[in-house]
Amino acid sequence: MMIRLIYLSKAVGPQTGALTESILRTAHAWNAQNGVTGVLCQGQGVFLQVLEGERSKVTSLYARIHADRRHKDLELIHCESITERRYGDWSMAHVRLSDVDPQTKIAWPEFDPYSPSGRLVMARIDELVAKGRVLDAPRP
Ligand SMILES: Cc1cc2nc3c(=O)[nH]c(=O)nc-3n(C[C@H](O)[C@H](O)[C@H](O)COP(=O)(O)O)c2cc1C
Repeated sequence: MMIRLIYLSKAVGPQTGALTESILRTAHAWNAQNGVTGVLCQGQGVFLQVLEGERSKVTSLYARIHADRRHKDLELIHCESITERRYGDWSMAHVRLSDVDPQTKIAWPEFDPYSPSGRLVMARIDELVAKGRVLDAPRP
C-alpha cells in the first residue's frame, strides 16, 4: 500500500546551498533505491516536503527525517493512502520558496504554512511544480 505524506518544519540554522545539497544528495540516493518520490520546498526558514511511496518506506524515512537535527518543530500536515503517485518523476524535486514569484519577491505571498490544510498546501505545491519552479529533478 502506498501513502503520501506532507510535513512542515523549521530550519535550525541558515538554509545554505551546502545544506540543501547535502539533504538532496542523501534523498536522491536513498529515495531512488527505495521507491520514494516527492518534492522538497525550502526557503523562508521552513522546509515543506511531500513524500510518497510504500507505507513502510515512507514511515521509516519520516522517522529518520524527524530525528534530523537540521530542522525542528515538525508538523505532519497531510497523510493519505494513494494508488497513484503525484510526483512520480522525481526521487526528490526541489523547489526554492524564496524566489518563486519575481514580482512580489515572495514565493507565496500569504505563506503561512502552519495554517492551511494539507490539500491546499498540495495544490500550491502543484502550482509551483507546474510553473516550472523545480530546480533539480533527476528521475529515479
Ligand atoms: C528537510 C529534510 C529532508 C530530508 N529528506 C530526505 C529524503 O527525502 N530522503 C532521505 O533519505 N533523507 C532525507 N533527509 C535526510 C535524513 O533526515 C537523514 O539524515 C538521512 O536519511 C540519513 O539518516 P541516518 O543518518 O539515520 O542514516 C532529509 C533531511 C532533512 C533535514
